Amino acid sequence: MSRVPLPYTQKVLDLFRNPKNLGKLEDANVISVAGNPACGDMITFYMKINDQSVIEKISFESYGCAANIATASIVTEMIKGLSVESAWKDVTWKKVTEEVGGLPSVKFHCGILAVGAVKRAIRKYYEQKGSAPSWLPKELTFEEKQALEEEELAEKLSKKLKAADEK
Ligand code: FES
Repeated sequence: MSRVPLPYTQKVLDLFRNPKNLGKLEDANVISVAGNPACGDMITFYMKINDQSVIEKISFESYGCAANIATASIVTEMIKGLSVESAWKDVTWKKVTEEVGGLPSVKFHCGILAVGAVKRAIRKYYEQKGSAPSWLPKELTFEEKQALEEEELAEKLSKKLKAADEK
């Protein structure tokens, strides 16, 4: 069977080959994970947010595909140095997808997962602090919901696979 390569943009391919801000951040004060280790599509963001609520440092580790790595890399570049509030408001999966020059539609969810993980990190930061600012919506954003849905689906799938294995 021959495989047709996905029509990735040059920017996606470049970021996939040379991602920015890749790896652990030793002095992170918030870490968030999205995706499911069972199916391999997993992303972790590390952030160091300072006392002025500015994202001073950010990095990521991804076990996802090229689209996931490229979108995660561009997100780190987009929000590094921004206030947490601006990062929350400015970053949507649509913007991120535009920034990488577009993604094949079957790969939209990979960018959504990256943005969902960033939003989850910001939410977690305020949870850790024990108080949330008024601009932070109580309801989960589209990206966060999608990340959750993917995780639930992956969990169901891995349970099914395990059950099949045990038969
Ligand atoms: Fe799962 Fe891209 S992150 S296919």
